[in-house]
Amino acid sequence: MQNEIIKLLKKEEKLSEETIAELSNIEISDFSDSVKELGKNETAYIKREEILKDLNTTYIGKDMYIFNEVMSTNTIAKFLSMNGVGNGAVVISEKQTKARGRSGKNWESPLGGVWLSIILNPNVTHSKIPLITLATGVAVENTLKRIGIQNAEIKWPNDILINDKKVCGILTEAITSFNTIESVIIGVGIDANITLKDFPEELKEKMTTLNKETGEKIDENLLIKTFLEEFEKISKQFMNEEYENILKEWRKHSYTIGKIVEVHEPFSKPYDGYVLGISRDGSLVVEKIDGTLEKVISGECVIKN
Ligand code: BTN
Repeated sequence: MQNEIIKLLKKEEKLSEETIAELSNIEISDFSDSVKELGKNETAYIKREEILKDLNTTYIGKDMYIFNEVMSTNTIAKFLSMNGVGNGAVVISEKQTKARGRSGKNWESPLGGVWLSIILNPNVTHSKIPLITLATGVAVENTLKRIGIQNAEIKWPNDILINDKKVCGILTEAITSFNTIESVIIGVGIDANITLKDFPEELKEKMTTLNKETGEKIDENLLIKTFLEEFEKISKQFMNEEYENILKEWRKHSYTIGKIVEVHEPFSKPYDGYVLGISRDGSLVVEKIDGTLEKVISGECVIKN
């Protein structure tokens, strides 16, 4: 994190050569005001005023940090959250140079996409974190509906697909102290107007963009505003422990339920199974070939039919 913050400030010429030379003696948190100040600007494409215009939320997006380029909005959000920035704050960047995906993968984030992270301070235990990810998937689904895309589906746990191709990914990270959740960073990447031509071949086949699916240029600021509103609605349900509502919504849009999948769980051999549903804790319920049931809490599943 230290390197990312230094790189950001160096790039934006907020650090003098002298300060850089002395950095080993300086606490990184001393730079939090500079990062906050930098995030108060806006960029060529991401316009604070357009997002805030008629934004119908009570706490999500009221505090917003906008950058030209960061390594990862999740890291900046984490840093800000550790330095006094609170519930509902949003970090947005036009580009990311080292964005993180799930399972240690990189996430391509060129200009034209929506790359943002939300800081939440829910009073919950670790076991509820997967439900925040599912809730965010529902918020993206509802957002796409509002901008006219009716056929998006959610692949467990957090991929949003259109016509079988991925258009959005979600990465939830928790900041903990003595086993207590201090805050949760929810990172969302939506491939809005990006071009896939420079993507690695294996990704090109699996990904799509909103621009490609609709044939129209997507208004990124409107997309962000709509998402913040949808996210607030579902996050309120989450805070009020209305988990069943979230699960009901998720199931309605599921791409995974009723399919044969190959399950990849960390540290175990992949196996095939039939997806029966998702359980109350957000895990996938899979019937294996031998008829036994498995609950998949984390991992990936590859669709086989
Ligand atoms: C996935 O692998 O599907 C999750 C991708 C999450 C990407 C987003 S983009 C904004 C935020 N910052 C990151 O570094 N990652 C998330």
